[in-house]
Amino acid sequence: MSSTETLLAQLRQNRAKRSQRPETSAPVQPTRAFDFAKLPEYRQMSMQRAAGDLVGISSPFFREASAISGATARIDGQECLQFASYDYLGLNQHPKVRDAAAVAAQKWGVSATASRLVGGERPYHSALEQAISGFYGVESALAMVSGHATNVSTIAALTGPKDLVLIDSLIHNSVSEGVRLSGANRLVFPHNDTEWLTRKLAEVRGNYDKVLIVVEGLYSMDGDTPDLPALVEIKQRHNAWLMVDEAHSLGVLGSTGRGISQHCGVDPNLVEIWMGTFSKTLGSSGGFIAGSAALIDFLRFKSAGFVFSVGLSAPLAAAATTALGLIEAERVKKLQDNGAYFLMRAKAVGLDVGLSDGLAITPVIIGDSMGAVIGANKLLARGINALPIIFPAVPEKQARLRFFITALHSSEDIDQAITAIAEVIAELEDMPDLATMIASA
Ligand SMILES: Cc1ncc(COP(=O)(O)O)c(C=O)c1O
Repeated sequence: MSSTETLLAQLRQNRAKRSQRPETSAPVQPTRAFDFAKLPEYRQMSMQRAAGDLVGISSPFFREASAISGATARIDGQECLQFASYDYLGLNQHPKVRDAAAVAAQKWGVSATASRLVGGERPYHSALEQAISGFYGVESALAMVSGHATNVSTIAALTGPKDLVLIDSLIHNSVSEGVRLSGANRLVFPHNDTEWLTRKLAEVRGNYDKVLIVVEGLYSMDGDTPDLPALVEIKQRHNAWLMVDEAHSLGVLGSTGRGISQHCGVDPNLVEIWMGTFSKTLGSSGGFIAGSAALIDFLRFKSAGFVFSVGLSAPLAAAATTALGLIEAERVKKLQDNGAYFLMRAKAVGLDVGLSDGLAITPVIIGDSMGAVIGANKLLARGINALPIIFPAVPEKQARLRFFITALHSSEDIDQAITAIAEVIAELEDMPDLATMIASA
């Protein structure tokens, strides 16, 4: 029995005792062969929901956002400050980005209608790919329909059972899934621990054919960055490839938003595989790989998520291309100033901000998952929208509220958020734990 099931069983017993009636068990229903409701994972989910309902904790997930969000949003009909959007530079609502998408949809329709291999190339694909390779200063780029699928398909195409993939312990799910699909050997290294990586590679490099190291440019759960110069040195010494996921660092790091290479002053051509998404800073959807012409040529024929999936649609491609052209120093600086201000204010009131470097992502560590969920609800009641990140996305004792800071926020917005968080955390400290809440429900 899970702890939630035990607590619920205890609650039922308490209630039965209180009403002096013997507990009656529900009639046993015959099990249907493929009853999804009987899946253990589904039962666990249902138990958690039931426990939340019993003690009056509403779910902060899948709330309705009924208007486009910027610094503010309308969540479940309530106006609030928005700290749960990846639209770091506010380009999703930029008139030029919206117009480019609308014009492209009028000209080409909303769907690319076929895989590019079959349906042929369209000028909006090459325009986007040239813009990306130019932005990174590398030879070539390839656009795909989903950021998640870009990681999965690229890693699966490049590695196999004779190879080793080393991934940071805080890496995004799409990278782990790609390694699983590839059948490659997998080693998870302690977060940002380049010394561990050096020792391990010295020990095991000889056992494998190809070796790939995958990191993020800005870690999406913790808001910190890797030591790119050290990683480049390690992969060169051990004859490995380095792949950097720039989902959260493109447009965010570096003086003109070129990402972690600009932030660290590293030549982008020293990294074999740049990966990024169109869904964060670029106000669109999809993913890309940028690197050498041979890498891109290979993926055009060998990446299943590219070959066997439809091409990126014209409105999405046009929006991303236009947004890329709008990334400039002033916008990036405003974002970076806001990120640093949020971190400074959070530290000043004693919040636990984990590893955050004060860029666009800062977590506020709460500790347990229930506290993080209740904290998010309490924040929303104060007009601040920030979502909880709970187990299993992070270890149970690391459950947190995650704040995405954008160039659209004002310092007053940030002040208001920090005051609300500090109040909510003080309230959480006085709250009973779930077991006590259930027992007294
Ligand atoms: C680090 C990282 N990589 C990849 C992805 C997948 O990107 P997309 O949401 O565009 O599919 C995400 C999504 O949040 C991410 O955070």
